[in-house]
Amino acid sequence: MKGVVLAGGRGTRLRPMTKIMNKHVLPVYDEPMIFYPVRTLLKNGISEILVISAPEYIGGYIQLLEETFENAEFSYKVQDKPAGIAHAIQLAERFVDGTFAVVLGDNIVMDDIREDITGFDDSDEDCMIFLKEVSDPSRYGVAEVEDDRVVDLKEKPDSPETNTAVIGLYLYTSDVFERIPELSKSDRGELEVTDLNRTYIEDDALGYSELDGQWFDVGTPDGLLKASNFVAESR
Ligand code: TTP
Repeated sequence: MKGVVLAGGRGTRLRPMTKIMNKHVLPVYDEPMIFYPVRTLLKNGISEILVISAPEYIGGYIQLLEETFENAEFSYKVQDKPAGIAHAIQLAERFVDGTFAVVLGDNIVMDDIREDITGFDDSDEDCMIFLKEVSDPSRYGVAEVEDDRVVDLKEKPDSPETNTAVIGLYLYTSDVFERIPELSKSDRGELEVTDLNRTYIEDDALGYSELDGQWFDVGTPDGLLKASNFVAESR
């Protein structure tokens, strides 16, 4: 399985820092944020990694990652504009040659998902999402599960029906590249990963796994602080 790290976006919730630099170089305690999604892939056996970022930042990532992770084989791709997570995933089409994992550059996932990867590769499903119980679900994509199947996905709902957040880690087969061009832009003008993943519910091809390890969304000042404290204390 190959891996994709999405490190584009606008980073509005971390302004003013992200006015002049890309979110994924901001420090989680003593290391740039992007090291974490890269490590999530590496520790789960994925070493062929495509990094996607904005034109003005991709050069910096090449320099940073090549000299840090000698055991990884990186490729790079530019996303011209932050047109959504699903838009960014589509840019991986030429890199992918089978199943692949996508990890959002601002997500820190500590779980071991190797069994999920093997299970996905052996299954008939075309997408797998990872779920986590949270106290503030309206900040995230939220999943409704019935009888061991995901029956609905909602993006940042005002009154969430469950506390089950969809975290920024997804497994796909290459059939995703036929689905993304069929999506319509959302009200905020982006191709949304929640809309993409919902198409798999309709086709009964969406699997899920519940994670119980540490997970941080470091796309906000609070998330960044919590993750930094956690890392500092676990040293
Ligand atoms: P988001 O946090 O949804 O968006 P953002 O990074 O633009 O931040 P904000 O909402 O504060 O403005 O993005 C999640 C991850 O996906 C983030 O690590 C960046 C990445 N991403 C892309 O690579 N391309 C994109 O077009 C978008 C929207 C996000």
